[in-house]
Amino acid sequence: MSNFHLAQQYIRYLLKGQSRFYLHSPFVFQLVQEVFRDKRQFYAYQDIENLRKGLLGRSDSITIQDLGAGSRVNATTTRRIDKMVKEVAITPKYGKLLFRLINHFKPKSMLELGTSLGISALYQAKANPNITFLTIEGAPQLAQLAQQNFTRLKADNIELIVGNFDDHLPQVLEGLESLDYVFIDGNHRKEPTLSYFEQCLKKASNEALFIFDDIHWSPEMTECWKTICEHPQVTVSIDLYRMGLVFFRQEQAKQHFILWF
Ligand SMILES: C[S@@+](CC[C@H](N)C(=O)[O-])C[C@H]1O[C@@H](n2cnc3c(N)ncnc32)[C@H](O)[C@@H]1O
Repeated sequence: MSNFHLAQQYIRYLLKGQSRFYLHSPFVFQLVQEVFRDKRQFYAYQDIENLRKGLLGRSDSITIQDLGAGSRVNATTTRRIDKMVKEVAITPKYGKLLFRLINHFKPKSMLELGTSLGISALYQAKANPNITFLTIEGAPQLAQLAQQNFTRLKADNIELIVGNFDDHLPQVLEGLESLDYVFIDGNHRKEPTLSYFEQCLKKASNEALFIFDDIHWSPEMTECWKTICEHPQVTVSIDLYRMGLVFFRQEQAKQHFILWF
């Protein structure tokens, strides 16, 4: 991770970002109005944030095997739970955004790469409780904690798969008729991320939404995000700085947006 790169990308984001008043795409304008700016407090938010509070009070550590590009701050294998929640788990602001996106689009199939302690999985699964939410985590110790969190919040629609994305993603995709939603939040390197993208793309429905976390985490992730946006099958791409959203709707003109969020 380079702080210089992050700062540079953030300045670019602020300078190039658009407010909703200048949006020329009715699809994106509607998305901003109805989803990004939706201030309602949904029933699940409080439960998930209470769970986060409990985890933030845990100073015990677990030993984990890091299969990805490492954490932003600490790539060692023994990690304090409170620190992991602070450094790795999705923030309330973005967790709630994922909830609202799923609540809005109501995908019929949902997948996440990178469960960690399960905070983002809970936000997403709770938004669409009648649909199975598949999430893959490579570190068994983390998966065990995540499973406890799912049980505590009675998130019965989450199916947690333990193992490397490389081993499990092909099989998971084979089991799906089509893919409407994926959140890619693990192994933040260019080549693996592009490989997950390409694999998921083969199953993407016209209405699918793919979300990539940490798109400006490093120069190679910025490059990766650019490659994804330029892919001929991607029509609408939205850069929120922290995460990137892509749509494949053929009825939309190809357009890239950098939006202040
Ligand atoms: C950023 S964390 C996920 C955070 C979580 N989505 C949240 O917001 O609460 C990324 C996770 O992906 C897992 N991971 C990274 N590379 C992996 C790989 N190749 N296979 C399986 N899991 C992997 C790591 O163990 C880590 O727990």
